[in-house]
Amino acid sequence: MNLSRVRVAVTPLARRFPAAAALLPTVDALIAQERPEEPVHCFRPEAAVAAARGFVGAFSGKVLYAVKCNPEPAMLRALHAGGVDDFDCASITEIALVRQMFPEAAIHFMHPVKARGAIRSAWAQHGVRDFALDSADELAKILAEVRATDTEGTLGLIVRLALPKGGAVLDLSGKFGAAAEEAVSLLRAARPHAARLGLSFHVGSQCLDPLAWRAALAEVAEVVRRADVAIEVIDVGGGFPVAYPGMEPAPLGAYLAEIEAGFERLRLPEAELWAEPGRALAAGAGSVVVQVLHRRGEALYINDGVFGSLADAGTLGFRYPVRLIRPQGPAPSRREIGFSFFGPTCDSADAMCGPFFLPADAGEGDWIEIGQLGAYGACLRTGFNGFDRARLVAVRDAPFTGSPALALPTSVAA
Ligand SMILES: Cc1ncc(COP(=O)(O)O)c(C=O)c1O
Repeated sequence: MNLSRVRVAVTPLARRFPAAAALLPTVDALIAQERPEEPVHCFRPEAAVAAARGFVGAFSGKVLYAVKCNPEPAMLRALHAGGVDDFDCASITEIALVRQMFPEAAIHFMHPVKARGAIRSAWAQHGVRDFALDSADELAKILAEVRATDTEGTLGLIVRLALPKGGAVLDLSGKFGAAAEEAVSLLRAARPHAARLGLSFHVGSQCLDPLAWRAALAEVAEVVRRADVAIEVIDVGGGFPVAYPGMEPAPLGAYLAEIEAGFERLRLPEAELWAEPGRALAAGAGSVVVQVLHRRGEALYINDGVFGSLADAGTLGFRYPVRLIRPQGPAPSRREIGFSFFGPTCDSADAMCGPFFLPADAGEGDWIEIGQLGAYGACLRTGFNGFDRARLVAVRDAPFTGSPALALPTSVAA
């Protein structure tokens, strides 16, 4: 079984979408007109601009967009239009894309384990100056590749601190980060080489508990105290959650209040505060419209799945807001039942247990819009079993969060 993840065949948006959002179609009009038999990714540029404006306006520090969660150029353009000038990149491919689109943007290479060639090229060809690390080996690697040419002293070194498993749905604590003791040594070792020395962490993705940032910043305080060197950057990572059915986070303001208070307690008045949100900026601006190929009992066989843009609905059991689209024929039943989904591949792992609540008579030929997929959706598609085609269209609809009770990602009131 070939599970390799390749970025395939989401036909990109034309370079420009109409400046007036009113000129874009709505999702329903598009489906009625085109009756698509392949998944359609619906991008809401206005929602991405608003999410960026909301976050940038509410956060007192620098906002780095985590490109990994949706590197689609249309998304990058919209976030940039909403005030994002800094980008957290994990690979040289992301770096090259951002640099090509925004020659003036600040790019930060925040993957703690990098190839030597990627470091060299980021530094020399793309003007990247900030590099993350979580080991002495990576520090040596970065210095070996850039020090000889750092004649003006512009290198930024950001030490990533490991955190204990916390309140995040996607725990990232096992793979990256230096334990406190090692982080202290790394800060001391990096200090003489860095024009900017920073400490970063990541509480895990879709972290529902604002207190996770309080606990993380208390750990940071202890490491900073023990290292006893000047620190110019505190980077609180990503992890800011959005609403999914069954997961209703506090407003963004509750998370930012904990961060502001924790940062104040560090007493580093000269230091910059950074955050690396991905999901919170991108999720609401994207949905995918799938078609039902077959119904068996309360399972719907649809044309997208865990090897496509619904990876997190599989193993992680994420539920997304859903709605039925039936442009012709009888009006959908007003009674809803909980369905599970099967994806289009032959692999039995291509299953999403949901439940996804839809009209009881949903069946073959209907379309379903699945919302909150602007983050970690299209970018995870693979070509497995040949189901590698999907389209991307810009639409003028508001974000599809599924229920008025679910907070929009842009909501900042604490
Ligand atoms: C280093 C780093 N920063 C930021 C992010 C973005 O996280 P999120 O989309 O949960 O905000 C990630 C996601 O894995 C990450 O690894």
